[in-house]
Amino acid sequence: MLFRSIMSCDIGVYGMGVMGRNLALNIASKGFNVAVSNRSPAKVEECIKRSQEEHLGEKVFASTSPEEFCKSLIKPRKIIILVTAGAAVDKTIESLLPYLENGDILIDGGNEWYEESIRRTRELEEKGFNFISMGVSGGEIGARHGPSLMPGGRKECYEALENILTKIAAQVDNEACVTYIGGAGSGNYVKMVHNGIEYGDMELIAEVYNMMQNAGIADDEMSSIFAQWNQGELSSYLIEITSLILAKKDTDIAGLPAQEGHLIDRILDVAGSKGTGMMTVKEAAERGVSAPTIAAALFERYISDEKDLRMRAASMISGPSFDWSSVDRQQLVSDLKDALFCSKLVAYAQGLDIIHKASQKFNWGINLGECARIWKGGCIIRAKILDQIKRAFSKDTPLDNLLLDPDFADQLVKRQQAWRRVVGLAVATGVPVPALASSLEYFDSFRAQRLPLNMIQAQRDFFGSHTFERVDQPRGQFFHCRWTSEHA
Ligand code: 6PG
Repeated sequence: MLFRSIMSCDIGVYGMGVMGRNLALNIASKGFNVAVSNRSPAKVEECIKRSQEEHLGEKVFASTSPEEFCKSLIKPRKIIILVTAGAAVDKTIESLLPYLENGDILIDGGNEWYEESIRRTRELEEKGFNFISMGVSGGEIGARHGPSLMPGGRKECYEALENILTKIAAQVDNEACVTYIGGAGSGNYVKMVHNGIEYGDMELIAEVYNMMQNAGIADDEMSSIFAQWNQGELSSYLIEITSLILAKKDTDIAGLPAQEGHLIDRILDVAGSKGTGMMTVKEAAERGVSAPTIAAALFERYISDEKDLRMRAASMISGPSFDWSSVDRQQLVSDLKDALFCSKLVAYAQGLDIIHKASQKFNWGINLGECARIWKGGCIIRAKILDQIKRAFSKDTPLDNLLLDPDFADQLVKRQQAWRRVVGLAVATGVPVPALASSLEYFDSFRAQRLPLNMIQAQRDFFGSHTFERVDQPRGQFFHCRWTSEHA
């Protein structure tokens, strides 16, 4: 195994899973010397093999022990840790600490719960080390060729890393998809919400696909529709891959013979999740932010997991009967496009609102326009619309909610009839569209001058003396009613 002479690597990557290996190769391909290490040496060898195949062998240096690894790094050392979030991060840090010196910078690139990063920052700073938690989005391909990077921690640490990070990040319109997010934990937070929006976006696309399928549109035709949408305002990575997925025949599954037909029709309708969607919904609740599209997307994954129960229920409980041949397909496809556009905007509005509230709470000073900008490339939610979202948050007047941007508000108003037709049809026919419908409900609640929540306040006061404000008295003054003779 190669071992680089003492202190000549610009940066180290610890953890040679798919993300770590690809990020290390990305770093090497941008001309930096990168040290790589892993708990089990086999994965380090795999990375070295790949680096040689890609003619990057000169730039990648294997270390078999934490000591060798740390010694091979230029000071202050910069180490990106890419191991499973949780205890493995603490274990890795513990194994490296004896070989680090004051001022060295550890960077966690995993999908970690942000409070863990705040704790690690505190503990490491007490010992004289620095810690950055950095969201990394884009999967394997992004890590190798340019991810979206969301680093949070001390600004001067970001500055020490900036040269490397801006070179390895995705590049869009001559700008790197990386920015300084804010203080400790903020990088994880923004990545977590990115994933929440990802859940929303994916569920919305799945619901649109389901509506088309119910209307009798074949996989190949749907693939063409998504490909066409990808040429316009809906252009995004997720729309692009949906088109490719719908076109894919069942011919390339390792260990199985090629079969007639499309693969999508043979994939079990039970969705997994690793936790960031759940964390986003928990955080929305914690921050008092309404995020029903993201929540619907998460809960639909959970109900999908109840496959056996669903099968039993389907045999017992029937929905309305409906003749889908009566639906004008062309009109439906056009309506679905508008409904998807509007709902997607709403999902972004919810996600950005969660970030905004957390940023206020933790004094992170997060620039939402910058979040939109760094999501324009490399990451899973990259989309054309992010350019307009970025502009909406970069205007002189601060924007309290994306839907209050006059251009977006105008677009939602113009498309709302199509959106309502889609949700109406789904409700009438019993096709579940929880994300499309809850996005529309959010839109209607958000634009409502008056909601019936006066009734909630009255009920709360009736049974629990929780008091209420009045429309004819200044805000902040609370009243209680003796609703009946039994009330005090
Ligand atoms: C990304 C992805 C990445 C991963 C998610 C999937 O931005 O690159 O979001 O982080 O694909 O962990 O999450 P689920 O398994 O929960 O769908």
